[in-house]
Amino acid sequence: SFQDVPLAPPDVIFHLTAQYKADTFQHKVNLGVGAYRDDSGKPWVLPVVKKVEKIIVNDPTIDHEYLPILGLPPFREASIKLILGPDNPVIKEKRVVATQTISGTGACHLGSLFLSRFYSKSSVIYVSNPTWANHKAIFSNVGLEVKDYVYYSPKTIGLDINGMLESLKNAPNGSIILLHACAHNPTGVDPSQEQWKAIADIIEEKKHFPFFDCAYQGFASGDLDRDAWAVRYFVNRGFELLVCQSYAKNFGLYGQRAGCLTFVFKTAETAAKAESQLAKLQRSEISNPPAHGARIVNLVLNDPVLYAEWVDNLKTMSFRIQEMRRRLFDKLTALGTPGTWNHIVDQIGMFSFTGLKAPQVKVLKEKYHVYLTDNGRISMAGLSSSNVEYFAKAIDDVVRN
Ligand code: LMR
Repeated sequence: SFQDVPLAPPDVIFHLTAQYKADTFQHKVNLGVGAYRDDSGKPWVLPVVKKVEKIIVNDPTIDHEYLPILGLPPFREASIKLILGPDNPVIKEKRVVATQTISGTGACHLGSLFLSRFYSKSSVIYVSNPTWANHKAIFSNVGLEVKDYVYYSPKTIGLDINGMLESLKNAPNGSIILLHACAHNPTGVDPSQEQWKAIADIIEEKKHFPFFDCAYQGFASGDLDRDAWAVRYFVNRGFELLVCQSYAKNFGLYGQRAGCLTFVFKTAETAAKAESQLAKLQRSEISNPPAHGARIVNLVLNDPVLYAEWVDNLKTMSFRIQEMRRRLFDKLTALGTPGTWNHIVDQIGMFSFTGLKAPQVKVLKEKYHVYLTDNGRISMAGLSSSNVEYFAKAIDDVVRN
């Protein structure tokens, strides 16, 4: 029987949300899960999403039949154009295949499952140290061996580019390399364009396979092209690669699980064969993907007016986060909090790696009711005009004592 099933530890990120919810303190602050909040601390349904949902509900042609196994066709096409750019030659050359997935997690899963079956050069995937808490679990679930490459330097609270290049050089030829396309989770530290070029040089020289995770396109900088720069650069250099796209953050569709796995191959022939295998894998796992979120994304991406509204909504989110970075930095500077805090404004995206250590995080939680992961990561969207000062003072206290 099952009496020997060991108790699994709770999920680091979602456990924090539960602890926060159970806390009755009035000024509690949740900086745990990466989910956008408006300045009053509330989840934000994007106005363009609200509008499109009304269109969908009132559309008499919409039913609840199954989607095709690979997902909604115009959604898949639009996802390719969004990440690679509408005029990318690989589209005309039919070298790209997109599969609608259960958000970014599902894309990471399906992409790595495909590699575990059909990528013969290696079964080792290298991930940045640190990386998103779920990456290792997803990849080891499909039988890949997960190893780390150097990424973050605690000393500089920035990128250790030399360490990273060295690790990529030392990895056996043909390894799979997980790369965060933009707004690295959990550090908020991204390579510069020059650094991306050096990374691409080594990946090319070592014949590694680039595996991009892109969870924040447009959400990171407010500029969809800028956030896709690294992926497009690699594609333009002729790499075979895959990209996991999530519409959780940039559409605020967290619970709808809309995402896409986009795969670029060397030839159209390979792409067609791979597509057939992706469909076969998808069928055995989820039969076909969920419709509602994909319909929303599809309508927005395929309509220029709605698209422009979406870009506006993206700017609202990313600019509010940038504003919170600035305000937190200013408060810490005004308080004269020991240490350097420039990294808070230099980092990008949903998260900031504060440099706070686990014992300090513990005090923040127990004394101040501020919830964040033990590695010192804060979700910037959890800050607002009404709690940023409280949080800055709490940091000041834990740093000094
Ligand atoms: C996070 O890192 O907080 C988000 O990506 C949410 C998640 O699924 O972990």
